[in-house]
This record gives sequence, C-alpha cells and structure tokens, in this order.
Amino acid sequence: MPPSQAVAVPARWSGAAMPDQSGRLALITGANSGLGLESARALLARGATVVLACRSLERAEAARQELLAGAGSAGSGTAGELELLELDLADLDSVVRAANTVAERHGRLDLLLNNAGVMAPPRQLTRQGFELQFGVNHLGHYALTRLLLPLLEASAGARVVQVTSGAQYFGRLDFDDLQGERRYDRWAAYGQSKLANVVLAHELQRRCPGLLSAAAHPGLARTNLQPASIAASGARFEGTIYRLLDPLFQSAAQGALPQLFAATAAEAESAGHYGPNQFGGMRGWPAAVRPAPAALDPAQGERLWQVSEELCRRACPGFAPVA
Ligand SMILES: NC(=O)c1ccc[n+]([C@@H]2O[C@H](COP(=O)([O-])OP(=O)(O)OC[C@H]3O[C@@H](n4cnc5c(N)ncnc54)[C@H](OP(=O)(O)O)[C@@H]3O)[C@@H](O)[C@H]2O)c1
Repeated sequence: MPPSQAVAVPARWSGAAMPDQSGRLALITGANSGLGLESARALLARGATVVLACRSLERAEAARQELLAGAGSAGSGTAGELELLELDLADLDSVVRAANTVAERHGRLDLLLNNAGVMAPPRQLTRQGFELQFGVNHLGHYALTRLLLPLLEASAGARVVQVTSGAQYFGRLDFDDLQGERRYDRWAAYGQSKLANVVLAHELQRRCPGLLSAAAHPGLARTNLQPASIAASGARFEGTIYRLLDPLFQSAAQGALPQLFAATAAEAESAGHYGPNQFGGMRGWPAAVRPAPAALDPAQGERLWQVSEELCRRACPGFAPVA
C-alpha cells in the first residue's frame, strides 16, 4: 500500500480523543456488525444520536441491545441516543424510503458514515438488477448520499465518510462493463466497488465544498466480512489464507478508528483519506494515506457520478432528493 502523506494526524488517535458529539446526528450503514457497530459504540459514548441503518431490523435491535448493555465498560457509554432505521442497500426503493424517513424524523443530518459492504460473493444481483457489490458497496451508498444531500448541506460542519479498502489499489472502474455482465471476477468486482467509494468521496468534495467528504479503510479487521465472504463463495482455500494471516488482523474497534477519525477529528481534512499506519496499512493507528490514483482524477469522478445518477433515475422512479 502507498506510504503515508505528511499530514498531521495525532499519534495513536483513538476514540478517547474524539471531540464531544453531543447534539450531532449520525447515520451509520451496516451498523449491526463489525466496524459499523464499533463506530456506533464510539459515537454513542461521545454523545451523538446514532441511527443504526441496517437491512435487518432484528439484527439492528440486537445491536442496540448490545450497545446499551456495553455501556459503562471502558470506552463505552450511552451519552447519546440510538435509533433504528431499515435500509437495504441492495434495493433502491428501500434506500428512498430510508432517506425519506430521516427527513421526516429529523429534517437534518450531521454525519453520514457509508460503512456497509459485501466482499467477493459469486455474481448476484440487487433488486433492480445491478451486480451486488457494485449495487451495495457503491450504488446504494451513492443513492443514499445523493438523497440526503439537502439535509447534510443544511447542517454546519456536516461530514460524509465512505468506508473503502486496500482493494481500491487493485480496483479499476470498468465503465464498459460496470455490472460484470461480460466477465465477472468476484475480487475484481470488489476492487472496483471499493475504488468507487474513494472516487465518490473525492467527487462529492468537488461538488459540495461546504461538506467534509472523506474516505477511510480499516486495514485487516476481524469482523463478519471474511466469514460471510467464504460462506457465500464456498472458497475454503481463502479461509485457510485468513487463518494464516490471523496474527495480522486487528480488532474491529481498532479497525474502525480511521473512519471515526475522518468522521469526527478536527484534524481530518476535506477529501482526506485515512487508514492504519503499520505493516503496509494492514494494521495500526489512523494516518493520512494516499488513495488510489483514480480517486484524484476529476474525469473519473465526474463520469462515475453521472453514470450512477443515470442508473438510479432509470431503475427507481422514486429517486429524487428529499426536501
Ligand atoms: N474487515 C476488514 O478487514 C475490512 C477490510 C477492508 C474494508 N472493509 C470494509 O469495511 C466495511 C464494513 O465491513 P465489516 O468488516 O464491518 O464487515 P461486517 O461485519 O460483515 O459488516 C458489514 C455490514 O454491512 C451490512 N450489509 C451487507 N449488505 C447490506 C445491504 N444490502 N444493505 C445494508 N447493509 C448491508 C451487513 O449487514 P448484515 O449483518 O445484515 O449482513 C453488516 O452490517 C465494508 O465496507 C468493508 O468493505 C473491511
């Protein structure tokens, strides 16, 4: 992974250094598991109202119970509040309903943490017929961001953070075959979707200078991502590789730090990109790291935005920014 840039990130930044989040409203996608759950825990402890946006309300409720039960242990607390929101990123109608619900309930939003993701399944389709990784990791998040922009732009100091991956560095936006219809390689599709996350972060910053738009990746973190990937693909050989790499994997709480830094730290920069600082970006403490070159190319950003907008409009008649 490319080396860190010389940008000032406090050494060993952790949730304890997070500024007070009282009065801030944060929405986290995929908040019932892994990095999303740990991000919710940290934001809640610092006083934010956190909307747990999950595809299963049952799993969201279980997460809510876990977060409330964990209050009082080190690094935890319930200074803020928790709310549940049904959001299936594999269904653009669900994304529209979720955005409208946020508008009705709150009429504002201070932080959008686009965290949910799926990794390297066999080729599957979303409800509207998009390849699943492109659809969930990128397009669903594009739609959610786009629909919530009026609420974010109305809030002073609003931030949008895309959770990407080291897979961005081998990703390529294949505009001639974004859905892998001609040729599907499940890892290339994951790389494409994670590159799209960081390209979107930069394009959003160009279009909305009033927001702080950033991206972050966790390195290697012990979550449900790898087990779910193996369960979906049946690739047991990859399971063996994960077991061999296990000593390199860090906890979900540690892996969540770069996205929490981007989401809250005063030192986080517009169009910033953060990841762990050790073992080539696989683990460690948050640092500013160089994104994949495509992320810095305005032509790629403009094209991805236009294509995503068109796909959402064509596939989902209800797709229109919330008032
Ligand atoms: N862990 C790592 O080493 C690693 C490395 C690089 C990047 N990342 C990125 O980190 C992010 C978080 O993943 P994680 O590691 O925390 O994995 P995780 O524990 O599997 O969490 C993924 C979350 O995404 C949700 N999700 C999946 N499909 C969804 C859909 N259609 N609609 C809404 N939510 C959906 C999952 O919901 P369910 O629980 O209902 O399935 C879950 O809440 C992902 O974007 C991933 O690409 C992780």
